[in-house]
Amino acid sequence: MNTGANRPGSAEDPIARFYEEHPYPAPVANLDADREGWSSPLRRRAEYHLLYGTREYREDLDILVAGCGTFQAVRHALRWPNARVVGIDVSETSVRHTKELRERHGVGNLAVHLLPIERVSELAHDFDLVICTGVLHHLADPDIGLRSLRDVLRPGGAMLIMVYAPYGRTGVTMMQEYSRLLGVGTTDDEIRDFALTLKEIPEDHPLDPLLRRSPDFRRLDAIADALLNPRERTYSVPELLGYIDRTGLAFGRWYRQAPYLPQCGGPATTPHAERLQGLPPAEQYAAVELFRGSMVRHSAVVHRAADQERLWRYLPGPESVMDAVPIRLPHTLTIEERLPPGAAAVLINRSHTYPDLVLSVDDAEKSVVEAIDGRRSLADLADLARAKAGAHDTVGFIERLYRYDQIVLASPVAGYP
Ligand SMILES: C[S@@+](CC[C@H](N)C(=O)[O-])C[C@H]1O[C@@H](n2cnc3c(N)ncnc32)[C@H](O)[C@@H]1O
Repeated sequence: MNTGANRPGSAEDPIARFYEEHPYPAPVANLDADREGWSSPLRRRAEYHLLYGTREYREDLDILVAGCGTFQAVRHALRWPNARVVGIDVSETSVRHTKELRERHGVGNLAVHLLPIERVSELAHDFDLVICTGVLHHLADPDIGLRSLRDVLRPGGAMLIMVYAPYGRTGVTMMQEYSRLLGVGTTDDEIRDFALTLKEIPEDHPLDPLLRRSPDFRRLDAIADALLNPRERTYSVPELLGYIDRTGLAFGRWYRQAPYLPQCGGPATTPHAERLQGLPPAEQYAAVELFRGSMVRHSAVVHRAADQERLWRYLPGPESVMDAVPIRLPHTLTIEERLPPGAAAVLINRSHTYPDLVLSVDDAEKSVVEAIDGRRSLADLADLARAKAGAHDTVGFIERLYRYDQIVLASPVAGYP
């Protein structure tokens, strides 16, 4: 019989027990700053079209946050006030914190349940959007978990998943193995001793860049979550794409895609650029993951495999491209100081961690970027660029902006913003 610790998602599962004692991320007192940041309709439209391409915009979504931790479900309920949000988690501590935060913010559009992902069908409900970040790689059987989520994803729905990636986490995997060899437990004293031990790690240890790049990683709760987690695996790009495929889903796009694309940043300037760009997309992503060498996680938007034929488009085809409406993504910035020769500005997205993902633009391109307001269509922007520079490949430029995570493309919506 399949009982206790062997039953996926059961309360006796060591992962459930671990997150009861060590909720992660740490609970927050309030989400006012996040709510403020999402108060703009343009911000929500950008997120919607990132997930659903040029499909018609709507906000009355049913959203499932699977493995919601201490605040993620409340965050989505606040971000999407016209949606109905359900959060599930296997840890009572996570559910309790989520409920407390829901009361504190007076959130009326969120239901929370103590329920493992593997039994999500018991909700007897399906969803337009399923968010599952930082969870699947901890499951006893990640395939069962993802299949269960696929079964509650509506036709035409989108799922955002994040799983850990292997190469950038080599040092983490090593120290997990180290702590297992020593039988390091998760009492406060043991975690503190582990933190002191990490201070002595040699500078050329593969964990060192992570400790240096993310000061948060030195916090005791982060150390416990990353290094003393009872069960965790990682997925390289080919492993992740295989996982998505065999669970009846289809890859849509990377949540932030420039780091994976051979057309963006460093890979585009190497003697291999053309060869890289000639590979099928899945191999391009796999090769660029190896080239970059330090990815710690992958966030992907996926859909039901059955939807593939009628998939909305992230980049519309030639017949409708001129009607598409670009919207700038959050965290994008136009910089006008210390420019490379010939550039009128450089564009960055502050959510990128690789410094080579910088897009240089000339005068006409800069004015196109400045004119993007979530209302003007590509045809309007092309007119503007022509007035400024004569002949102009605005469609090609918009594609570059899209690849560099500067914009998404939306269908025109009356009344927005
Ligand atoms: C690292 S936290 C991530 C929390 C949240 N998704 C986020 O990104 O902030 C992992 C969460 O998944 C939950 N979890 C682990 N296994 C689960 C399962 N089988 N079903 C539901 N939740 C699970 C844990 O209790 C924990 O709250």
